[in-house]
Amino acid sequence: MINKGFPEGFLWGGAVAAHQLEGGWNEGGKGVSTADVMTAGAHGVPREITDGIIEGKNYPNHEAIDFYHKYKEDVALFAEMGFKCFRTSIGWSRIFPNGDDEQPNEAGLQFYDDLFDELLKYGIEPVITLSHFEIPYNLVKNYGGFRSRKVIDFFEKFAITVFERYKNKVKYWMTFNEINNQASNLDVDIFAFTCSGVTYKDGENREETMYQVVHNEFVASARAVRAGKKINPNFEIGCMVSFVPIYPYSCNPDDMMKSVEEMHKRWHFLDVHVRGEYPAYTKKIWERKGFNIHIEPQDLIDLKEGTVDYIGFSYYMSSVDKADKSDVESGDKLVGSVKNPYIKESDWGWPIDPVGLRYALNIMYERYNKPLFIVENGFGAIDVKDEKGEVHDGYRIDYLRRHIEEMQKAIEIDGVELLGYTPWGCIDLVSFTTGEMKKRYGFIYVDKNNDGSGTLERSRKDSFYWYKKVIESNGKEL
Ligand code: BG6
Repeated sequence: MINKGFPEGFLWGGAVAAHQLEGGWNEGGKGVSTADVMTAGAHGVPREITDGIIEGKNYPNHEAIDFYHKYKEDVALFAEMGFKCFRTSIGWSRIFPNGDDEQPNEAGLQFYDDLFDELLKYGIEPVITLSHFEIPYNLVKNYGGFRSRKVIDFFEKFAITVFERYKNKVKYWMTFNEINNQASNLDVDIFAFTCSGVTYKDGENREETMYQVVHNEFVASARAVRAGKKINPNFEIGCMVSFVPIYPYSCNPDDMMKSVEEMHKRWHFLDVHVRGEYPAYTKKIWERKGFNIHIEPQDLIDLKEGTVDYIGFSYYMSSVDKADKSDVESGDKLVGSVKNPYIKESDWGWPIDPVGLRYALNIMYERYNKPLFIVENGFGAIDVKDEKGEVHDGYRIDYLRRHIEEMQKAIEIDGVELLGYTPWGCIDLVSFTTGEMKKRYGFIYVDKNNDGSGTLERSRKDSFYWYKKVIESNGKEL
């Protein structure tokens, strides 16, 4: 296929999240957030969620890469690469330190004003997630996170506050980051904690609680979308899901149906955000399992009135499922199900499947006919500096190139409407699942190690120069 480049105005950029890079965890009036009470883990070693902040524990997000103080230097590097957009999130506890405060914290609001001004100075469009894996810790301790309907109101107030404040600076928004993680990983505690500020109680039915909490978040999301469109009708407000398409292991019809049922767990989230109503298969799951989900009549109206304008999603991998798993090797715990024999994995056991991205783009676009935005994709790897202090990350370039080629096919051959592409962790930052620094995704290297040592100095990797050319040529030079 001849590479004709990407559509005019395609949003090339990079993505990060507040808690994974800002640091400054207790500066500028910021309150403690869920991310501040998570210790460092490692591949196969879960992060610990502590009861408040405990002296002597290692909390990697407290300093992260100190973007809070270094953002001007970092934005200049993004501009040098030619970014058209930059995706980050707003730390909710910078704006409402306790989540239930009467008045917002002016210093927190000012920080994002300054950051957005800095981006706009270079013509970089901010793409903003309202809640990316963190909520004010007080809302966890005193309300049980999104178990409580009061937290819906607090979220709406937070959303309205930032929509009003940045209505002339930000056009692209998303409500909750990877809201579906908590469904795919019911037994891994950090997912419910980071998605919705929930810790499960002993003996409770986690699945039922998850559906209830997620319902509350759907309503919060819909109310935010509706309020945002009133504040500025030109806002584009999307949802954000982690999209891991599931292939049937074989053409055995039972494998096919197993993959269909597993996909329902994914579609559930998009169906409600995009169509504004619960799909039939979800109602059947609730009925079969005897789940009693509290839904108020007004919620159903809110869901309908707050459907999203576009679908933001992350794509890192595909997955495979099989009806009878007794004779196959299992996949990594976080990745789930069974191994795909056709696909290689990263050092963290994440399958690498560029073609799966084209497949994902196709099935989402066919189903919803809404613009899509790939707001995360990337390769977490161990980067080693050579004797000159340079990082030659050809493996990352290769990963990204192969994914971009598939994006192009989805646009050119399949006619998918794609708004943009923001590779994850465009600057090295704290890994979400493990809390490590050594799982790096960036075009920009940050001198910081797992134990917190390092100068925090920034330097350009080979992929920095490569991505700059990709953007300059609008995707023609890969
Ligand atoms: C997504 C998240 O799950 O994947 C990011 O939205 C996260 O916050 C990214 O960092 C990569 O995961 P990890 O665990 O490698 O940092």
